[in-house]
Amino acid sequence: MLIAALPKLDDRTRVCIQAGNVNTGAFDPAKEICARAQPAGAWVHVDGAFGLWAAASPRYAHLVEGFSLADSWAIDCHKWLNVPYDSGIAVVRAHGHLQNAMTMSAAYLQASDMREPCHFTPESSRRARGVELWAALRSLGRAGLAEIIERNCRFAKVFGQCLRQAGFEVLNEVVLNNEVVLNQVLISFGGDGDTRRVIAGVQEDGTCWCGGTQWRGRTAMRISVSSWATAQEDVERSLQQS
Ligand SMILES: Cc1ncc(COP(=O)(O)O)c(C=O)c1O
Repeated sequence: MLIAALPKLDDRTRVCIQAGNVNTGAFDPAKEICARAQPAGAWVHVDGAFGLWAAASPRYAHLVEGFSLADSWAIDCHKWLNVPYDSGIAVVRAHGHLQNAMTMSAAYLQASDMREPCHFTPESSRRARGVELWAALRSLGRAGLAEIIERNCRFAKVFGQCLRQAGFEVLNEVVLNNEVVLNQVLISFGGDGDTRRVIAGVQEDGTCWCGGTQWRGRTAMRISVSSWATAQEDVERSLQQS
């Protein structure tokens, strides 16, 4: 998000910024955006589906600087934490916001003095997703989580470097010199048709799975390294295939 391109903001505005762009892994300038948005009464929401997990790694924590100023965050646990779908977390700054938005009432729902989870989630009935989340965090610990994040980011850089050396173009953010900042890599294999053919070939081959996307008017392969199980040899085999 470009600060200079922000329109006039007011108290009806919701500014949705990304910690970890879905294509490039890049982080919006949260501190500057909050400094513009919040005095105008605008709400700043962070889509941090995978990117906010960078906070768990001493090497990548600087990327999330300023995001704590936002009014709300959305984080997925089924991405970098690798727990089963559909484990998402909404975090709001001010106590009461979530409850005001989510509270359900009905004659058959008995009020009590206990904290009722259904006042904080969109669902009344749901499975115990929190157990998987707790177990993953408990078994990995901060160091284990940081290891997954740092290994995945290292492999993303390897993909970028090796494919660039092989003559292909890394399309990640131009303002960041097309460098790979997190775990996402965007590659063009020539024209859009060439890239589409490579994506189809990689998916057909099955050594790894990469999807396609559009980035600044061009077709790109989107490499997202986010599995706890991905090892160096998987990266090498995938590079050989592409
Ligand atoms: C940055 C980002 N935001 C949101 C989403 C959507 O998340 P979900 O599939 O959990 O709804 C994704 C999924 O890829 C994502 O990468």
